Amino acid sequence: FMWIWQKFLSTCLVLRYSNGESSGEQIPTILAWTPAFGSHVYHTWFQDRLRDEKCPKQCKFVPRVHERNHSIADYDAVVFHSRDVELRDLPKSRKSDQLYLLFSLEAPGNRAEETHKWFPPFYFNRTVGYSSLNDYVYDYDRLVDANLTKDAVKSKNHSILAIISGCRTASGRESLIKVLWAHLNITLRGSCYGKSVSGDELDNLIKTHRFVIAMENSACMEYVTEKAFRYKSLIVPIVLSRKLVKDIIPADSFIAVDDFDNVTEFKDRISTLERNEDEYMKYFAWMKREDDFGIRNKGVCKLCTDLHNRRSLIHSSLANAVFPDANLCERRIVDRLLEGETRVEWEQFVFKGEVLTLIFLLFLFIRRF
Ligand SMILES: *[C@@H]1O[C@H](CO)[C@@H](O)[C@H](O)[C@H]1NC(C)=O
Ligand SMILES: *[C@@H]1O[C@H](CO)[C@@H](O)[C@H](O)[C@H]1NC(C)=O
Ligand SMILES: *[C@@H]1O[C@H](CO)[C@@H](O)[C@H](O)[C@H]1NC(C)=O
Ligand SMILES: *[C@@H]1O[C@H](CO)[C@@H](O)[C@H](O)[C@H]1NC(C)=O
Ligand SMILES: *[C@@H]1O[C@H](CO)[C@@H](O)[C@H](O)[C@H]1NC(C)=O
Ligand SMILES: *[C@@H]1O[C@H](CO)[C@@H](O)[C@H](O)[C@H]1NC(C)=O
Repeated sequence: FMWIWQKFLSTCLVLRYSNGESSGEQIPTILAWTPAFGSHVYHTWFQDRLRDEKCPKQCKFVPRVHERNHSIADYDAVVFHSRDVELRDLPKSRKSDQLYLLFSLEAPGNRAEETHKWFPPFYFNRTVGYSSLNDYVYDYDRLVDANLTKDAVKSKNHSILAIISGCRTASGRESLIKVLWAHLNITLRGSCYGKSVSGDELDNLIKTHRFVIAMENSACMEYVTEKAFRYKSLIVPIVLSRKLVKDIIPADSFIAVDDFDNVTEFKDRISTLERNEDEYMKYFAWMKREDDFGIRNKGVCKLCTDLHNRRSLIHSSLANAVFPDANLCERRIVDRLLEGETRVEWEQFVFKGEVLTLIFLLFLFIRRF
């Protein structure tokens, strides 16, 4: 009897569902199939975005645990976080008007499908990522209100803060930091320098430093992570390239190393800003303006709106979505700046050191016999 009763209930549920849809009042529901960054509740991030974007449409993002109560066919879209997709664990059935969304906030080269390429062909309908070339944009962060007084600057008696956890990167930032470190006062933190930083410590470091290194592990178009968004905590980010960040954070809120011809010029600028309060305060001019850097026009709201209108979408144009920004990375920014710097000698030194170590080991090895 219980079984029949349950069947009856679920049939009612399905009927109600279809009725709602035909009357056009159904709220689209999006299922988060995979976890993301170890989180099984990141559907809430999407939900929060939708609210922050003041979207006139409503959508509901749900975690996969809810799938047990419903059939996968009940969802209007399914989100797959690129790095967490398991081929063994893809949905067993699929409806033709359902959108499959590929989501990643990683730079090109660090996404699963770029290294494995094992998804079935024509699997995803749309992409969600930080680049505006995606169908839907998901920024790392957004502009908020803040106020800095001259007093706040007084506590900033240290120069540059660097919190680095990726030690060997595609952008080569570690080489540049090494050279800058010889010329400037840089506080080195992060697992790369054997000193991890807690949340409280981070706040304190930001309060006492004027600049923060915000060079990404990959120098790619629009790849701007939380590092550069630290400008909101009233510190001046040092990024690799102006061109790559220009549409994401205010143009006068950061220092870009590719604005300079060489390390000497960069060093002079930093020294000026350490001494000249007025000049330094210019980096916070964004606070007095009404910049609209918070909302890019293809965010989660666009996704939600499209789902409301999806019956009118042209299906054939939606098959086989891949991330569109794979070739938009720069390899030469650090190299150009370091031309003629002492880095080459340092590398030679390391090389010589390795050779000497090898000879020494060989010597020990031979001595044993
Ligand atoms: C789905 O089922 C779980 C338990 O399996 C329950 O905790 C949850 O509230 C249900 N969700 C909905 C929307 O019915
Ligand atoms: C910044 O200052 C303005 C005017 O003094 C004030 O209206 C606003 O609320 C302040 N914002 C924050 C985040 O403190
Ligand atoms: C910076 O200021 C703090 C107090 O705000 C003080 O403890 C520290 O010694 C100062 N450091 C330098 C290098 O002046
Ligand atoms: C680094 O900081 C110390 C102490 O604050 C200062 O004496 C020195 O001139 C600074 N060096 C550079 C290169 O700015
Ligand atoms: C750095 O660049 C500036 C401006 O182009 C130039 O005047 C200066 O000679 C350069 N310095 C070095 C050490 O190459
Ligand atoms: C999404 O892609 C699949 C596979 O290519 C396709 O069958 C489906 O119709 C597409 N969905 C939409 C809404 O166009």
